[in-house]
Amino acid sequence: MGPVAVVGGGTIGVAWSIVFARAGRVVALYEPDDARRALARDDVIRRLRALAVCGLLDEDPGDVAGRVRPGGDLPSAVRGATYVQECAPEDADLKRALFEELEGLAAPDAVLASSSSAIPPSSLAPAVRDPSRVLVAHPGNPPYLLPVVEVVPSPLTSAATVERARGLLSSVGMSPIVLRREVEGFVFNRLQGAVLREAYCLVRDGVVDPQDVDTVMREGLGRRWAFLGPFETVELNTEGGIDEHAARMGPAYARMGAERGQHDPWTDEMVAQVSAAVQARLPRERWRDHVLWRDSALMALEAFRRRTPLLAGPSPAEPAGAGGAAAHAARVEPARAGDPDGGAAR
Ligand SMILES: NC(=O)c1ccc[n+]([C@@H]2O[C@H](COP(=O)([O-])OP(=O)(O)OC[C@H]3O[C@@H](n4cnc5c(N)ncnc54)[C@H](O)[C@@H]3O)[C@@H](O)[C@H]2O)c1
Repeated sequence: MGPVAVVGGGTIGVAWSIVFARAGRVVALYEPDDARRALARDDVIRRLRALAVCGLLDEDPGDVAGRVRPGGDLPSAVRGATYVQECAPEDADLKRALFEELEGLAAPDAVLASSSSAIPPSSLAPAVRDPSRVLVAHPGNPPYLLPVVEVVPSPLTSAATVERARGLLSSVGMSPIVLRREVEGFVFNRLQGAVLREAYCLVRDGVVDPQDVDTVMREGLGRRWAFLGPFETVELNTEGGIDEHAARMGPAYARMGAERGQHDPWTDEMVAQVSAAVQARLPRERWRDHVLWRDSALMALEAFRRRTPLLAGPSPAEPAGAGGAAAHAARVEPARAGDPDGGAAR
């Protein structure tokens, strides 16, 4: 297993370094700015300690942090790496210049992956001679707590590159999904965007206050979405599953879409495709068992919430020692009390 190079040591670069190092990989972390490089070193250890406090680290934080090697120039960070995760600022020109440089420095078979949230890989491809090894691997933030990563190939990315990226990301504990083609915002932000667009409209139209939107998500939809996707949710919400849900509710959802100028009715073919895919995971003949499982999972979640004051959320009026966010931060971030090893919150 060769080292992994992380290029850019800001929020996402530090977080990716933790993903790779936690999985046992040596990480060469390149950060051009001296001050940010020092912050990155502190940030890695601070975040690893927080993971350890929460029982989410199998090793001593110092041992994991020891595998992250910040420092050095770009050539020495990238040389010998089998996989390069670019984490530079979200600026297409900057990233193109960087990819041109990376191609000249990295081993010919190294995967060149960008963390970009919104720059499609095909706009990076013209910067390199061999675009077959360029793709986007877009994480959630922070990736060591949100395992999903969107692997987005351009039309010029080779299937072998996609498979190598998928394999490596799986091997470090991530849950990669591979997009069949580039779309604006990829999938994570399109789904988030659908919710946000509607939420803004509901507030604009005076239907609810912003805090009501957050309450619906936090106390309702989000509870199920903590362990089920939206398709799985409706499969288990309606006897007869997705097919029955679409038959009963499809027209109402179509009207809601039409109110917003959207015309994408759920056709029989679409519903059949989704239904077959969900049933492969949740066979319909065991529907009642799965509903019981969902309810048990909701109970487990609620029990966990009740014994975890932190999940009550940050509150400006939080009393000292309440066991909420401030108390948690004090436990996981002793650095804030003056520990020279950390405290670089970003
Ligand atoms: N922050 C998020 O929530 C998030 C989530 C997913 C993806 N991303 C993506 O990750 C990338 C990095 O975002 P971030 O939030 O970590 O930004 P950031 O500003 O925190 O970090 C970027 C780092 O890159 C460094 N840098 C500047 N020029 C560089 C260069 N030429 N080569 C290498 N490093 C350079 C900067 O000094 C800085 O430390 C962006 O493309 C962003 O869209 C961010």
